[in-house]
Amino acid sequence: MPRDSKTNHRAGAERSRPVLHQHAREIQPYGKIARLPIALDESTCAQSVENLNQVLADTITLRDMYKKHHWQVAGHTFYQIHLLFDKHYEEQNELVDTIAERIQALGGISIAMAADVAETSLIPRLPRGREELPVQISRLLEAHELILKEARTMARQAAELNDDGTNDLLVSDVIRTNELEVWFLAEHLVDVPLVKADEPATEKEAPKSKSASAR
Ligand SMILES: [Fe+2]
Repeated sequence: MPRDSKTNHRAGAERSRPVLHQHAREIQPYGKIARLPIALDESTCAQSVENLNQVLADTITLRDMYKKHHWQVAGHTFYQIHLLFDKHYEEQNELVDTIAERIQALGGISIAMAADVAETSLIPRLPRGREELPVQISRLLEAHELILKEARTMARQAAELNDDGTNDLLVSDVIRTNELEVWFLAEHLVDVPLVKADEPATEKEAPKSKSASAR
């Protein structure tokens, strides 16, 4: 190969080599707002971002609780519960993306990594081991209620700040999804007979319950 073309050959390979191990300063520190032209005050964006990051950390935690329980569930209702837990996992996963992208749209930074989520979430840490189904469901219900409580407070705050987009997300997505999932879970903890109905009411008891319902 002539000398010139050898040099060109090397230069060509050089140009196509990936530039690895690059590090630089962050372009936006966590907690700072990169203002966007969305006609909202910076203080409003900052407040909504802070609130949404709390709901995000708790929603990521609840989503992961569903996957844990999807894997670890046991008992004669295994198949239906295994599928239900995964359905709720998917719905919570959708919420995670919706909340995170709202935070970015407000000029904020969404919390993302497991260690930051664990530090921020208010949902109590779960044991690593396997638990009985009623315990799994109880833990999920408590986590849902925590999220519903904070989401309602934050929705009212967003409305007061005229941040309609955040209010709508909290009400239409977070609150409605969580309320519906609570219903689907809670019905599993109603202690009704599976095969044989309870003893019918005795004749003595029957009039009693009638007058009770008339009251
Ligand atoms: Fe699965």
